[in-house]
Amino acid sequence: MFITFEGGEGAGKTTQINILKKYLEDQGLEVIITREPGGVTSAENIRAVIFDNEIDPITETMLYAAARREHYIKKIKPALDAGKIVICDRFIDSSIVYQGIVRSVGVDLVENINKYVINNIEPDLTIFFDLDPEIGLKRVSLRNEQMNRFDKESLDFHLKVRKGYKLLSKTRNRFVLIDASKSIEEVTKQIINIMKISGVVK
Ligand code: TYD
Repeated sequence: MFITFEGGEGAGKTTQINILKKYLEDQGLEVIITREPGGVTSAENIRAVIFDNEIDPITETMLYAAARREHYIKKIKPALDAGKIVICDRFIDSSIVYQGIVRSVGVDLVENINKYVINNIEPDLTIFFDLDPEIGLKRVSLRNEQMNRFDKESLDFHLKVRKGYKLLSKTRNRFVLIDASKSIEEVTKQIINIMKISGVVK
């Protein structure tokens, strides 16, 4: 079972992934959590190149795809083959939205490149954290972390990201939208409900 979490900045994906891991393990399931760009050393190194440089959108698309290939082959595929539940913080849809739509590389091109690098598989379930970017960016600025160059993009950029995800959620059946403006407990409830409806847990 391959579950991906998607959404804009500050939507709370990482917090919820950790809660979900524990919940699923308590049900006796084997779970690994991972993130993109990164997940394995080679891909984390590519992540540094992407984050530390201003790069052309097509170069950026290729770097994310290269990192994804490394991550998929070395970590995700072996875990799925071993029957584990894999929960990934961002995956192919981040590229479709950020590079394909917002950076105008084109949805079809980005999707084709990415399907190729992941052997044409698709996540079984994608949870989209829908949130007003003004709230998301406020949450990010309150964190004690350094902001990356995406966090520093204009509000218009983040509004386009949200619109992009909404568009995908209408055309892809595996997408489930959750309201990420709610409290941590309420968002967890929404996610556990999705786990039940989709048969991940009984
Ligand atoms: P990061 O700080 O890792 O995570 P998050 O925003 O999920 O807490 O930032 C990841 C950034 O990389 C985010 O702004 C989206 C961007 N990104 C892409 O543009 N394309 C991709 O394919 C992926 C995986 C991420």
